[in-house]
Parts: sequence; C-alpha cells; structure tokens
Amino acid sequence: MSTITYANLLALPGISDYLKRVEQRLVDDVAWVGGSTAATAAETLAAGGKRLRPLLVLLSSPAAGQSAENLIRAGSAVELVHMATLVHDDVLDHASLRRGRPTVWAQHGDLIAGATGDFLFARAFAVLAETDDIDSLVLLAQAALGLSEGEALQMLQTRRPETTPEQYFDRCTLKTGRLFAAACGLGGRLGGLGDADAKALAEYGRLLGLAFQVADDILDCDGLSTATGKVLGTDLIGGTATLPLLYAARADAEIAEALRREPEPAAVHPLLARVGELGALEEARDTARELVRTAEEALDLITGDLDTTPLRMVVRGVVDRDT
Ligand code: IPE
Ligand code: IPE
Ligand code: MG
Ligand code: MG
Repeated sequence: MSTITYANLLALPGISDYLKRVEQRLVDDVAWVGGSTAATAAETLAAGGKRLRPLLVLLSSPAAGQSAENLIRAGSAVELVHMATLVHDDVLDHASLRRGRPTVWAQHGDLIAGATGDFLFARAFAVLAETDDIDSLVLLAQAALGLSEGEALQMLQTRRPETTPEQYFDRCTLKTGRLFAAACGLGGRLGGLGDADAKALAEYGRLLGLAFQVADDILDCDGLSTATGKVLGTDLIGGTATLPLLYAARADAEIAEALRREPEPAAVHPLLARVGELGALEEARDTARELVRTAEEALDLITGDLDTTPLRMVVRGVVDRDT
C-alpha cells in the first residue's frame, strides 16, 4: 500500500485502536506456552509487517454487528496463519531476509523453522476456537489447506517458464487469495452479514489477494530491499514462475533460460533490469489493475449494511505499493 492510502485508512475511526488491540493479542497468543518455539515465533512477530489481513477482518465487518472481542480473535488468527506460512515459505524459498531481519530458516535452520510455523498454525486455531463458531474454524482451515496446496503447486511450477498465466493464478488463488478471502469472510460472518454478502466479500478478498501477489512479484524484480525487507531477485534466483518473469520469459530466451537454470550471482541484477526493459513489469501491473477493477465489482454486489469505501481504498492502494 502506498503510504498515503494506508495513513488515510489508519485515520478512520476505530482502525488504529483495533490494530493495537490485535497486536497485543498476538503478543499474548505467541507467548502463551513459553519455550524455544514460542521464542522464535515472537521474533517473527516483533519484526512487524503490514497487518493487512487483520485489517481486512475489521473492514469487512458492519459496524453495527461487531463483537469486538471476536474480531480481535479473528484478526489475531489470520495473522498467525499468515506468519506460519511466511516462516515455512522462507524454508522453501531459501530466503535469508524477512521484514528486514534474518529469517527463522537462516538463523535456526529447517527443523526449527518447520516447528515454528507449525506452532503458529496451531495457535491460530486455538485462538479462533474462542469464538465458539465452528463455521469460522472451517473457513480458516480451508484457507490453510489452500496455502499448503498452493506452495506445493509452486514447487511443481518452479524452473518452468512454460507455466501459463492461468496456472500461475490457480496457484496464487490457493497460496494467497484464499487467506485474504478468509479474512474478509470472517469479518463479514462475525459481523452478521448474510451468506450472499459474505460470498461477495470472499470473492473481493480472493481478487485482492491475486493483485497483491502480482504486486509482490513485481517488487521482487524492482523493489528496494530497504522497503520490502526482503532480498531482491529471490524469485528469479529460485526459478519461481511469477507473472512478470513469465511475461518476460515469453518475450526473451535469456530470461526463460535464467528461470530454467539458476543464474550466476553477478547476472541477477542485469537480468532484473532486462525484465523491466522488456515491459514485463508494466504488463504485470496492467494485469493487477484489471484484478483491482474486478475486485471492486465484487464489492458492488454487497447489499447489507457495510461501508465498502475503506475496502476500496485498500484494493486501490495495492498495485503501486512499495512495501
Ligand atoms: C507477503 O505478505 C506474502 C505474500 C502474500 C506476498 P505481506 O506483504 O502481507 O507480508 P507482511 O506481513 O507485511 O510482512
Ligand atoms: C507468498 O509468496 C508466500 C505465501 C503466500 C505463503 P512469496 O514467496 O512471493 O512471498 P514472499 O515474497 O516470500 O513474502
Ligand atoms: Mg517467499
Ligand atoms: Mg515474493
């Protein structure tokens, strides 16, 4: 999200108060059991993050129907699932930096990172169970299942420049879209919206998640490590078939070859510059903007008592963000 949009959102009544309460709840939820796994989980939490998924829980809930405590539980639960997937994802991607700090994988290795992610997943469901709402648990469980399926699909698409955009979007729906959809669905559900509205919100969340992932994949090519907190070019080095790299590989044999075989370290930055010169970043941005338009159309279908303006602000800020 661009700073201006995010600052505007935080200025809306109740938002920064809600995020503060979620933050405190997260600290307590992670510290709950003590021990070494809780300690590595606490390090990940302390590193920060945008807390976008808890924000979506709040913004998807009509003001009148909100049970503040349940929204905080749901906000904490979606962020815990998100952090679990990041810790596991950094093992798969061999990523050394996350949120500007060394990853659990880089500091402690595969086994501790695996255990830390599992701990965070387990805590998420224990927290959400406090709502006493079985359907909410099922909703989040399905998203978590999608996340692991998506990561598995990503492994199958790795080093395959012939992956189609449709296959890329199928995997991103699973690994990113489902959790955004669940965050929106939980907010709608716990805030008392009807099924049709909750369905429209979930579709908005899925499309927002796709646009968000495309923007993340663009940032991996042209972002600033100081802003993203991650190492530039991780996708290209690992052969991850992202949308901008797929668009570039379609136009250029050198990029296709770099996706198939890990490039030499000195070649990475020139190759990333080439992806930009080929127009692939702009093409991917256009695709993301189209997703933003479709996400807003999903919001148009909502008939219940929900102000969709903040959700529109979120999705409009997603493509041109720098963090
Ligand atoms: C990163 O998510 C993973 C993707 C889905 C691209 P975020 O960009 O929301 O990560 P944090 O929570 O702000 O660190
Ligand atoms: C998103 O994909 C990871 C998950 C949804 C688990 P990325 O691999 O692109 O995320 P970053 O760039 O590491 O944050
Ligand atoms: Mg990654
Ligand atoms: Mg990425």
